[in-house]
Parts: sequence; structure tokens; C-alpha cells
Amino acid sequence: MIDVAFLGSDVRPAATAVVIDVLRATTTITMALASGYERVLVAGGLDQALGLRAEGRVLAGERDCERPPGFDLGNSPEDTLKPLGPELILATTNGAPAIVGAVAACDEVLLACLLNEDAVVRELATRSGDILILCAGTNGSVTVEDTYLAGRLSAAMDGPKTDAALIAEAVAAAYPEPIDALDVSAGAKQLHVVGLGSDVAYCAQVSTTEVVPRVARTMGEAAVLEAALINV
Ligand code: MLT
Repeated sequence: MIDVAFLGSDVRPAATAVVIDVLRATTTITMALASGYERVLVAGGLDQALGLRAEGRVLAGERDCERPPGFDLGNSPEDTLKPLGPELILATTNGAPAIVGAVAACDEVLLACLLNEDAVVRELATRSGDILILCAGTNGSVTVEDTYLAGRLSAAMDGPKTDAALIAEAVAAAYPEPIDALDVSAGAKQLHVVGLGSDVAYCAQVSTTEVVPRVARTMGEAAVLEAALINV
């Protein structure tokens, strides 16, 4: 069964979870791994992220879309294109807790964004068992951009689908171009307010990388993401 949960807090057990936070956590993690970071340590909170700090680890994250005090980087995907060390630690408001929550509930956890859409669909075609597409949402609210990508992924897959998956497909069909779905979202508007509007167009690019982040293991309460697939 292919199912969609519209909020990270609605996670439920599944063989495979695909976590989505288009703006911007899953886009940033995907591009960090595509750019050469060996792994990304996703922390559920800022304090956990600070506790993971060590030689060779770059600390990135956001609160209200902006870089927290003492962090090396914010959560802009383009900040990760030139790796500053072998490992990135990432703590974000919604995407990171959704990933950590999925690890607790599901057998395998992959990450999707628009930039790795085709690769995710191909990767999922090799899996058996139930697939839960888990949208992070924003501060407890459903978001257009995460639902939009959930619908695109669902529409690209064969198999029985829940009503939630069909609802997401209807949302995806409502927007001619990805940028249209992202631009109307509250998340995009907030990024513009803090001067990070260029991230919206960046996150709207489709299938520019073959990297699919996959949770390889946990480290304390953090999820360790590595690339499941790189075709070069
Ligand atoms: C989040 O995880 O809440 C988002 O990625 C927020 C952001 O745009 O940085």
C-alpha cells in the first residue's frame, strides 16, 4: 500500500518511509551528500546538535529559517555545495524531527526532495511492503510543497493507494510547475521575509541528482544519513 501522512507527527509503522521537507531540510541533506559530505547527522533539537559537535563536523541548522547562534551554516541547500568537512550535523524545526520520528516507527527511512525525485521513484520500485510518504509540514500545519511532492511520488508509482495518497496526487496535479506549488506556500513566504527567497527557486529544481539519502544507523538520538544511490 502507498500511503501519505501530511504531518511528521502522523508517522505510522511502514516497511519504508520516505520523508519530505522540500523547504528545505530534505533538499539540504540531499545536496550535502551529493556535494561530498560523507554523512549527515540529523539531530532532533539544537542542543542535541551542539552535543554532536566534534573535529571534522560542520554544524548547520535553522530556527525560524535562520542560522542559530553558534552554528556554522544555516539550512540553505547551497550552503552545503562546498563541503567544509566530512560530516554535516543538521538540526531543523520540522524536517529533522520528522526524520528522527520515522526512524523510530519504520523499518527503512529514505529522504525525498524535488531534486532527487526520479531517483527516489526508481529506488522505491525496488522495495516491497508498505510505503509511507511522510510530509514534515511546518509547525504542525500541512504544507502545499510537501503535499505536492508526495503527490508527484505517489502518481509515479504503481500499486494500491490510500485516499490520502490520492488527495496528494490531486494537489500535485493542480500546479503546472513545481515553482508554482512552492511559491504559494507559507514556507516560501517566510524565506522571502528573511532574505532567503533564492532558496525557493533552488528547491524547485527537478531531478538534478541521483543521490537518495537513507538512514544507515542511529547515533544516540540522531539519525545518520548516507547516500543510498549515486550514479555518476
Ligand atoms: C524545517 O525543517 O523546519 C525546515 O527545513 C525549515 C527551513 O526552511 O529551514
